[in-house]
Amino acid sequence: MPQQEKSLTMTVLMTPDMANFSGHVHGGSLLKLLDQVAYACAAKFCKSYVVTAALDQVFFRQPVHVGELVTFMAHVNYAGRSSMEIGIKVVAENLRTHEKRHTTSCYFTMVALDEHGKPQAVSKLELESDEEKRHFAAAGIRKKLRQDSLEKVRALRNDINEKDL
Ligand SMILES: CC(C)(COP(=O)(O)OP(=O)(O)OC[C@H]1O[C@@H](n2cnc3c(N)ncnc32)[C@H](O)[C@@H]1OP(=O)(O)O)[C@@H](O)C(=O)NCCC(=O)NCCS
Repeated sequence: MPQQEKSLTMTVLMTPDMANFSGHVHGGSLLKLLDQVAYACAAKFCKSYVVTAALDQVFFRQPVHVGELVTFMAHVNYAGRSSMEIGIKVVAENLRTHEKRHTTSCYFTMVALDEHGKPQAVSKLELESDEEKRHFAAAGIRKKLRQDSLEKVRALRNDINEKDL
């Protein structure tokens, strides 16, 4: 049986059009690339159209500079019925010194949709190594934390009647 496509790597040169007012790469430019990588990784895994349901724990640890070569390493950590957690690690490389820095990590929840735009089932994730098993277990805990937090925020909105937020 062919192996599942669970990982995807994309490398992009940071160009001046991606800069913010301070001359570093704009967070929004990185978020757009992250979303594209998450889309490609999830769509390749489940072989269908997917949408972004949620993004969490985006932590910009260090600024990324124009001229650096940035590599996005994405992996399907978890697959539920229709959703997948895609973990992405971002490494920036200074092309003159070859110094590499881990600048960002985050987790996307992507949902597979059928031709009517409804969530559709994805393949069961085959866990082939201890590392994949650890990622799967951690992603399951994060999924539960997301659901708990969503319920708490909804209850809070009802309590203080913030229906439009
Ligand atoms: C994501 C979306 C398809 C979920 O639809 P839904 O009617 O809530 O569907 P369900 O309740 O059946 O949930 C489907 C899956 O999404 C997950 N999900 C739903 N809301 C979620 C949230 N806020 N955070 C994380 N996962 C979520 C569910 O856990 C479920 O996963 P599972 O099937 O693996 O158990 C729907 O909200 C949507 O279309 N959102 C817009 C997506 C979009 O346009 N994104 C681009 C950015 S604008």
